[in-house]
Amino acid sequence: MAQDDLFKKLIAHAKEYGYIFQSSEIYDGLSAVYDYGQMGVELKNNIKKFWWDAMVKMHENIVGIDAAIFMHPEIWNASGHTSAFNDPLIDNKDSKKRYRADDLIEEHIQKYQAKINKDIAKGRKKFGDDFDEKQFLETNPNVLRNKSKIDEIQGRLVKALEADDLNEIKQIIVDCEIADPVSGSKNWTDVRQFNLMFETQLGSVADGASKIYLRPETAQGIFVNYLNVQKTGRMKLPFGIAQIGKAFRNEIVARQFIFRMREFEQMEMQFFVKPGTEMEWFEHWKEMRINWHKAMGLPEEKYRFHKHDKLAHYANAAYDIEFEFPFGFKELEGIHSRTDFDLAQHQKFSGKKLQYFDPESGESFVPYVVETSIGLDRTFLSILSACLKDEEIKKENGESDTRVVLQIPPALAPIKLAVLPLVKKDGLPKKARAIIDELKFDFTCQYDEKDSIGRRYRRQDAIGTPYCITIDHQTLEDNTVTIRNRDTMGQERIKIDELAGIVDDKVNMKKLLKKIF
Ligand code: GAP
Repeated sequence: MAQDDLFKKLIAHAKEYGYIFQSSEIYDGLSAVYDYGQMGVELKNNIKKFWWDAMVKMHENIVGIDAAIFMHPEIWNASGHTSAFNDPLIDNKDSKKRYRADDLIEEHIQKYQAKINKDIAKGRKKFGDDFDEKQFLETNPNVLRNKSKIDEIQGRLVKALEADDLNEIKQIIVDCEIADPVSGSKNWTDVRQFNLMFETQLGSVADGASKIYLRPETAQGIFVNYLNVQKTGRMKLPFGIAQIGKAFRNEIVARQFIFRMREFEQMEMQFFVKPGTEMEWFEHWKEMRINWHKAMGLPEEKYRFHKHDKLAHYANAAYDIEFEFPFGFKELEGIHSRTDFDLAQHQKFSGKKLQYFDPESGESFVPYVVETSIGLDRTFLSILSACLKDEEIKKENGESDTRVVLQIPPALAPIKLAVLPLVKKDGLPKKARAIIDELKFDFTCQYDEKDSIGRRYRRQDAIGTPYCITIDHQTLEDNTVTIRNRDTMGQERIKIDELAGIVDDKVNMKKLLKKIF
């Protein structure tokens, strides 16, 4: 299936099975804002727990906080967000569509890359096993021409972005003859900077309301609480503060479903270290974080590191962990070495000392920070996109059939166990309820007695339930049930007493954490 169709299918599936709904749908929706449904919220909570346990529970020197979304407006001056948290935007005068100017240029660059990829495919077809890709890339005239075009445009773009040169960004669009993807028109406005922060008012107008912002990242809530936590928790360097919470950005071009939203959730951890040790910790957290992703068991080739060539002025190293979404490799998490920029800025703007006294050396200094920052919604999307499968299956009579199955890692699955009485009579529902009443303390269970057993299995496959158990007449006689495994579809008869142990062994979060620690 084409990637585009796959993505459409994923969005439809997420809606049909209660994972994600368009916000305010009955009012025709609100652009780039989404609600999580009854299944979605469970998956989201499980991802949060996996992250929180891996960061806070498993580390003696990391603690969590939950800071408010509203913060003193001066914080955003100190952090640089009021002046520099901008996207360069451009409007097409004919179509009236608005774009991120750098995205238009990046997409144009991708076209040259697509041509190179096409040439490679042709070369491979022509020369078969003798094809030497490295040599081809170094010598083929078409490839060299397209590569030099990419380098030239990319070079100009990076320079223009670094210098905040909006005229040059527009000039690149003109020189490259980039057309509006919708209308084909090249009738562009000038490029303008657009601040991504949402503003609101604190207090009523009569009281002299002041302008405040919805936080565009959770990190600043951690920085401004650095001293509170360090002192009250008697924390010694190196130590970390973790937080999960909402962030808001008025994205110009919000698309790709929950990948780029205006209201989203971040899971961030700021790790405070002694200056000079930050690169060691940076490497440590790069490894820890990729291991966290890999522990979920999604295909490893879907992850890759991307090194930032253009560093923010306060950073001395930055990598993204990218994931191969249905629309290509994109940022999932950022790992940044942020020096002492944030704490030093808050020290300056607040006038309060934000230093650490090192009892060993007797020195006081502003700690350096290594940050890990992951989007919860993007993690959710990575799981859905890698786990939604259309599977061909062989029926007992030899005919083939298909099933839609969400092979979510069992520890993260919304429902762990479906309890299904074979028929709605003969005391089977009562027995099924009794089993749930016992197991619901440990697992999220679902009871289902409607439709044939086959249809019920399919429904559970589609929401990703790792185990279904069926209660039949034999259950009443010998206290055994059949347990069906979502992935193998294999069934086994087991004693009810063994149920909790079998399910727990597969779905316990410990299973994932043990792969990392
Ligand atoms: N404190 C650092 C920071 O906020 P960022 O790269 O801007 O860094 C971190 O954001 C992560 O937040 C991203 O890697 C991404 O997963 C997520 N994220 C950022 N903008 C988002 C959006 N509009 N919608 C969904 N997730 C977003």
